[in-house]
Amino acid sequence: MKHLRSIAEIGPGAVARLLDLTDHMVEINLRPNPKVPALRGRTVCNLFFEDSTRTRLSFETAARRLSADVMTFAVKESSVNKGESLRDTVETIAAMGVDAIVIRHRSSGVPWQVSAWTNASIVNGGDGWHAHPTQALLDAYTVRQALGRTGGFDGLQVAVVGDIRHSRVARSVTEVFQVLGADVTLVAPATLLPPATDVPCTDDLDALVGKVDVLYLLRMQRERMSEALVPDLREYSARFGLTPARAARLQEHALVMHPGPMNRGVEIQVDPAELPGAVITQQVTNGVAVRMAVLFDLLGSGSHDDMESTA
Ligand code: NCD
Repeated sequence: MKHLRSIAEIGPGAVARLLDLTDHMVEINLRPNPKVPALRGRTVCNLFFEDSTRTRLSFETAARRLSADVMTFAVKESSVNKGESLRDTVETIAAMGVDAIVIRHRSSGVPWQVSAWTNASIVNGGDGWHAHPTQALLDAYTVRQALGRTGGFDGLQVAVVGDIRHSRVARSVTEVFQVLGADVTLVAPATLLPPATDVPCTDDLDALVGKVDVLYLLRMQRERMSEALVPDLREYSARFGLTPARAARLQEHALVMHPGPMNRGVEIQVDPAELPGAVITQQVTNGVAVRMAVLFDLLGSGSHDDMESTA
């Protein structure tokens, strides 16, 4: 694997390999000194043109735990503000000798464009409405761990609820869950669904909530909306939010997931700390391990010996 730009591009074999590799990384992260020499001498650059908390910090942590050097590019303080183009910015970073660039950008397709300008491996940290493959992998890993489903997700019922239309997370998690064999249903008002999709859709959350194994909630991406697609937020929350009444109808083993950032009171009206099936914190924890697996797969020697000794 040279790049990780979307789940569709890497396919089922690589998804399975990365999830298995994540098991090793989880084990490393439980050690008293969670650091191995696997990527010593390698440099990873985080290039984030859009805001991020979880994704950027977990890529940084992941790279450091594998002993890579990390450059974090603060767009707000860079020459991008002096009019430097994306291409010149990427070529400048590449000229310093980086092995991987993790990029987040508001435009869909940027990770593919950037791959043509550098020999570095490109990791998509989220491109516009399009894809967020490491989020999808960490979500798949979290389900596999929480439900003990190492053999795949055949028959697993997943509902993805909220602003599907503007969500790169919705697209990538749907892909990864389907690749692993799950049945995914998208739940949203018609205005927040993509114009065309092969995935089953509904606007009736109540019909599904008692049947799903995974309830995946999404935030309203208001920064990506050019018009008011939801006339009344209170009505939206009442129809599409996880209310106490809906939480009470979840199956006992059902998982509640959210990629963050959460808008409490909108898509979630219960305290996730009080929901036995909520794995939102585990998603964040697993984000580090999954990103370690991705960086090791892209930049490592392939030898698991690099993960045994302590750095
Ligand atoms: C998401 C993103 O930026 O795509 N957050 C994340 O990476 N965990 C989802 C969002 O912004 O709603």
